[in-house]
Amino acid sequence: MNLMQQIKTEPGHFYAVGVGPGTADLVTFRAGGLIHSADVILAPRSRIADKSLALEAAKVFLGKDQEIIEKVYAMNRNESETNDFWETVAGEISAWVKAGKSVVQITIGDPLLYSTSHYLLESLSGRLLPESIHVIPGISAFQAVGARFRESLTIQQGRLMVMPATDLEQVEQALDHCETLVLYKAGRLINQLVDLLERRNLIDCAHIACYAEQPGREFMSTDLREAKDGKYGYMATVIIHIRRQKWGDSV
Ligand SMILES: C[S@@+](CC[C@H](N)C(=O)[O-])C[C@H]1O[C@@H](n2cnc3c(N)ncnc32)[C@H](O)[C@@H]1O
Repeated sequence: MNLMQQIKTEPGHFYAVGVGPGTADLVTFRAGGLIHSADVILAPRSRIADKSLALEAAKVFLGKDQEIIEKVYAMNRNESETNDFWETVAGEISAWVKAGKSVVQITIGDPLLYSTSHYLLESLSGRLLPESIHVIPGISAFQAVGARFRESLTIQQGRLMVMPATDLEQVEQALDHCETLVLYKAGRLINQLVDLLERRNLIDCAHIACYAEQPGREFMSTDLREAKDGKYGYMATVIIHIRRQKWGDSV
């Protein structure tokens, strides 16, 4: 019996499972085993996507007779609407779990980094016993993108910062406070980001990967200008290697 077959969900448990950047061979054994054995699979999908990227990455692990539910969620920034939506989903999940079903929510990358799992975990913590809630880490986009470029994210005293690209004033401030800056959700702001990095003389330090590790869709470049005009959409991660902080350098 292989390792994955030994890993199974328990009845009456919930699992937030990271499936990595979007390719089945970067899904962990643990994630694969839990996905395969779950009664219910919940796959979040954004309104602007035609399919769930997490489900695409996980589909080779699906088992038999599973209920697979895609939840389309709004992309707006209205906190109370977002919370209400996930409260309702958490209500459904806790009903399944209390009825003895095992429920797996799959999410792209890691469940604890800019993930809808956050809302579920918060809401479920008031509804289920802590020991019936599990988080399974996945390879995050920034790790996958770093690996594709074969460049260390940090060395020695270096500081790594991860943030969304959505507020460019904050991005500019961050440039002064770390050695490596990772920007998520960068797709639509590439033009402004190019302007900022040209002004700061950092344009040659920035790399971009869109749909990294997603077969047939991946785009990678060490020239951010090639990704201008929102060509590659939402699934874009930018890594800016600002400087190297060595042992003995003062911060
Ligand atoms: C909602 S966040 C999900 C982050 C994820 N939980 C993680 O651990 O990396 C979506 C953002 O992740 C980044 N992302 C996720 N998968 C990616 C991929 N395969 N290639 C490039 N960026 C990706 C993009 O910046 C995208 O806007």
